[in-house]
Amino acid sequence: MKRFILAAIAAVALGGAAYADTIKVGVIGPFSGPFALQGKNFKAGIDAYMALNGKKIGNDEVEVIYRDVPQADPAQSKALAQELVVKEKVQYLAGFYFTPDAMAVTPILKQANVPMVIFNAATSAIVTKSPLVVRTSFTTWQTSTPIAKVAYDAGVKKVISVVSDYGPGVDAENAFKAGFEKQGGQVVQAIRMPLSTNDFSPIMQRIKDSGAQGVFAFLPSGPTTLGFVKAYNENGLKAGGIKLFAPGDLTQESDLPALGDAALGMQTTFHYAISHDSAENKAFIAAADKAIGNPAELTFPAVGAFDGMHVIYKMIEATGGKQDAQKAVDAVKGLSWVSPRGPVTIDAESRHITQNIYLREVTKGDDGKYYNKEIQTFEKQGDPGLAAAK
Ligand code: PHB
Repeated sequence: MKRFILAAIAAVALGGAAYADTIKVGVIGPFSGPFALQGKNFKAGIDAYMALNGKKIGNDEVEVIYRDVPQADPAQSKALAQELVVKEKVQYLAGFYFTPDAMAVTPILKQANVPMVIFNAATSAIVTKSPLVVRTSFTTWQTSTPIAKVAYDAGVKKVISVVSDYGPGVDAENAFKAGFEKQGGQVVQAIRMPLSTNDFSPIMQRIKDSGAQGVFAFLPSGPTTLGFVKAYNENGLKAGGIKLFAPGDLTQESDLPALGDAALGMQTTFHYAISHDSAENKAFIAAADKAIGNPAELTFPAVGAFDGMHVIYKMIEATGGKQDAQKAVDAVKGLSWVSPRGPVTIDAESRHITQNIYLREVTKGDDGKYYNKEIQTFEKQGDPGLAAAK
């Protein structure tokens, strides 16, 4: 018995450092229901990152645990985050497609000693709710500011704004208005629709009645955006010459085949296009196509997740796998790398990503496929919404 115990102690002393720890990352997103494709893209981005970079950091092995919140549901998101922290003992929380789901979890981070890496949720204020939040996606302030200049330069002076009535929609409305008025344009009316709106015909009528030359719109990507752009076409607004300006959420690549000519020529501003021409993006696309199975389903949340995993790997490296949320977050402040979207930096003060925003136009390629063609770059954009969020 004594010999056995001594042998056991020796084994721990000698081999202890060699034993791999499992570092768990809890990912919350929509993996079923109408927005399941967006969650599938989180997973594709994660899988692509792990396929290219391995699952191990030193002796530690990364394990990803998924939890499904099908639609924006802050109570469910918070309950699942608590379960991940308490029962699964995750060291990192990540994902979060919808703003309310991220907002609901920020109050538990400090006590849980867990950083949150946001792969999508795009309301500026989220990063101000806890010093443990880092974001690798975009904000609607960041993506909607440049399109205001594009609209004005296209000769449109009167615009009606239409947004989903929640965080990123209100931010988008404010960003567009600020940018457009600065140019000398006028927002003649601002409509906020419930997130659940799926019949857009009455909205299209109000747009026509407003006398505006153009419409600015934001809705969260998914069935909502597909329905809105279809309605814009089917209700004769496109044919009537009312121009549609929006951030790229409205022309995500996975929707382009279904939209067809309805979206052709539409200009949007966004942080990422599948067509982005770079070596880093080619490597990403190859791995992500493989991960998702059907390349036609690949869309922007995959790149938010891919870069989010990069940040988490850096955090694990910096903490040596030990649970220290503040140290992990401090380690990625000011971190720069070349993402599939282009050069990026985690702003040291805000912990939000600084990146290029591209003007893109929906174009039909020689192969007959529609894509977002990048035609102009707004370099190194921070988040103009942070001042408003404070
Ligand atoms: C959000 O809820 O913050 C959100 C969701 C989908 C988007 C953009 C923002 O496309």
